[in-house]
Amino acid sequence: MDFLRYQDNELFLEDVPLTTVAGAVGTPAYVYSMGAFIGCLTGLEQAFQGIRHLICYSVKAASNLTLLSLVAEKGMGADIVSGGELFRALKAGISPRRVVYSGVGKTRAELLEALEAEIFMFNLESEDEMGLLAEVARERDIVAQIAFRVNPDVDPHTHPYVATGLKENKFGVSRDEALRLYGEAKKNPWFKVIGIDCHIGSQLTELGPFADTMEILADMVRELRGQGHAIRYLDIGGGLGIRYDGEEPPGLQEYAQAVTKPLAGVKDLTLILEPGRAVVGNSAVLLARVLYNKVNGDKRFVIVDAGMNDLIRPSLYGAYHGIMPLEEPKGGIPLDPASVVGPVCESGDFLAKDRRLPPLAPGDLIAVLGAGAYGFSMASNYNSRPRAPEVLAYGAAFQVIREREGYDDLVRGEYPGQLNKTL
Ligand code: LLP
Repeated sequence: MDFLRYQDNELFLEDVPLTTVAGAVGTPAYVYSMGAFIGCLTGLEQAFQGIRHLICYSVKAASNLTLLSLVAEKGMGADIVSGGELFRALKAGISPRRVVYSGVGKTRAELLEALEAEIFMFNLESEDEMGLLAEVARERDIVAQIAFRVNPDVDPHTHPYVATGLKENKFGVSRDEALRLYGEAKKNPWFKVIGIDCHIGSQLTELGPFADTMEILADMVRELRGQGHAIRYLDIGGGLGIRYDGEEPPGLQEYAQAVTKPLAGVKDLTLILEPGRAVVGNSAVLLARVLYNKVNGDKRFVIVDAGMNDLIRPSLYGAYHGIMPLEEPKGGIPLDPASVVGPVCESGDFLAKDRRLPPLAPGDLIAVLGAGAYGFSMASNYNSRPRAPEVLAYGAAFQVIREREGYDDLVRGEYPGQLNKTL
């Protein structure tokens, strides 16, 4: 995390001492670096400058309106997977003409909303979905711009829960099925076929699967064009991995080279990129305060005030997130294995397991690293815990971009003692 460093024994994000943020907004709290976020967006833009492209930030990774507004200011678009994400993207000022919509289970209402907003491209994932969109488009007299999401059956070598491009996964349709569906779609006046789409998985740390997928897609573009389809957009999804624990993901330039090489000779094609994690993953930390220490048997536990409801990745995927005390540990201090756990009533509630950590006393503050992607966006109210605030650091300043929830937020829409027994 480039924007994170110790200075005078204190941990800073950009030029903001994180203890100051914790003092001002309390803990747990997510703190994003604007410089890191924008730097990653700009880095991608530069890496792909040799080819026509549109960056559609993947809203699901971190969907705060302020972050989305930064995306809008850069003239970039959004990759969405729900009506709620469409609502956020538009509210943040992202142009609907730069919105692409994937997902296997879009409802009629969601298709309608997206159609009426005149989004750029529907990435269709089944014949049933194609049928429903055709129906809605005809009813509303609006032509839908479409692509089919192809499942290339390429192993992304990532965690099975976030692999999407294998034939046993629910995502996309096979190459042969896609060719058939393109044929069907062409006959329908409510469709304008403009592209082809793919997303094979997340947190990929090798280029091979990207390159193999692009070979398949480049062939399909040629074949579809040969059949008279005006394919002008190739949506390559997201998936580029980041470093959490010594992984060595490809750099942005290498990634750009690997995905564009198989396209040599394919003319008049605009790439659509849907990056999420690579943009925001290492742009944020989760701050937490130590509540207690305890030893059970020979296990040392550091109990903090952030739990699996705040950051579920360790519990759900066994994901690694670095832990840094906000006060720099003095040289020579003993580092002993400890698990950093939260207050939630599950043994699966941990942020870090068996890490070599310095002594941490109640009241001490820690930062959980790499928390920007799928951190706050996957947070829940489990155990009736209000969700943490989100804060944006920029230069020496910081601002709350989402308030901490209160108890009233927990019960909004619920009514005690008003059960209508006749229902
Ligand atoms: N496009 C589509 C269609 C996707 O499904 C995804 C992520 C992305 C783009 C962005 O992928 P990225 O660049 O962030 O890898 N919760 C999991 C990750 C789930 C990813 C879901 N789809 C995690 O915490 O690791």
